[in-house]
Amino acid sequence: MVATLTLTRPDDWHLHLRDGAAMAAVLPASARQFARAVVMPNLRPPVTTAAQAIAYRERIRAARPAGSSFEPLMTLYLTDDTPPDEIGRARQAGVVALKLYPAGATTNSDAGVTDLRKTRATLEAMQREGLPLLVHGEVSDPDVDLFDREAVFIDRHLIPLRRDFPGLKIVFEHITTREGVQYVQGAGALTAATVTPQHLLYNRNALFTGGLQPHLYCLPVLKAEVHRQALVVAATSGSPKFFLGTDSAPHAVHLKEHAGGHAGCYTALCALELYARVFDAAGALDQLEGFASFHGADFYGLPRNRGTVTLRRERWSVPETVPFGEATLKPLCGGETLDWRLVAD
Ligand code: NCD
Ligand code: ZN
Ligand code: ZN
Repeated sequence: MVATLTLTRPDDWHLHLRDGAAMAAVLPASARQFARAVVMPNLRPPVTTAAQAIAYRERIRAARPAGSSFEPLMTLYLTDDTPPDEIGRARQAGVVALKLYPAGATTNSDAGVTDLRKTRATLEAMQREGLPLLVHGEVSDPDVDLFDREAVFIDRHLIPLRRDFPGLKIVFEHITTREGVQYVQGAGALTAATVTPQHLLYNRNALFTGGLQPHLYCLPVLKAEVHRQALVVAATSGSPKFFLGTDSAPHAVHLKEHAGGHAGCYTALCALELYARVFDAAGALDQLEGFASFHGADFYGLPRNRGTVTLRRERWSVPETVPFGEATLKPLCGGETLDWRLVAD
């Protein structure tokens, strides 16, 4: 049995770092696990301009632990009104992508896009400049069943978007369904997807087992077992179209354990250990490095990292809670025992 696993230093291609004291609380965990992360722009107010992204990047860099070279890769929040000439400024500023939140689909998406047709000129500029579009791929139509919102998004929006912008790089973020997997597999080299630990580890039964489990509530919501299995097959297949994105989305415990509890799982604390659990269970530990360290960088056209991280086969308990500014945070698998542990640097 393999006792240690050494990987090229990985990256997180979908991360919510928040801001202020909350950011200061969660940033060290990501900086320990990853060399770089694509930082989501759904702050309040959202990060919609290159100037705001530069300022946010400086706040993140300033909050890094001493000696850390963790590099935040910035994104802009696409709105109905993002001017096409913001794209050139974004590229100049080192922004790596724009994020599409259909209005009303998820946490802090009220400023999101109400109609993709309004963003045409901006998407054309992105296609020209080679800036990828990252997609929260769910319709927010209240008439569509919650569990079908990803599949309906593909038919209503993704297929037409792909047809209208054949040269645009698209990342279908946090995919959760067999339909999502099949779409990405068939969509050509400019379409890829991130996969979260929670959607690889759990199906929707887990939300309701032993009482309601608010810490497993995220968007898109967990799906049935057939979908989880399709995600595991895709992530462990070695296909360069699938890569690591934790969607780590910290919300204070009191806002999760609450009527109208917030959506998002805090997965960054032991992200690599969680993915290692999935790949180990699938007998595919040899595919973890591609998924975690190569496919994302290759898709974005960024250099692969130098240096390595090492995971050791060792039983350890994930802390039940961790501090989060004035509040606390419950990590995914908090209080549980894991079989893999990231070796301290
Ligand atoms: C994310 C958040 O809290 O920012 N929540 C979530 O459930 N995934 C938003 C998102 O990625 O959709
Ligand atoms: Zn999302
Ligand atoms: Zn997210």
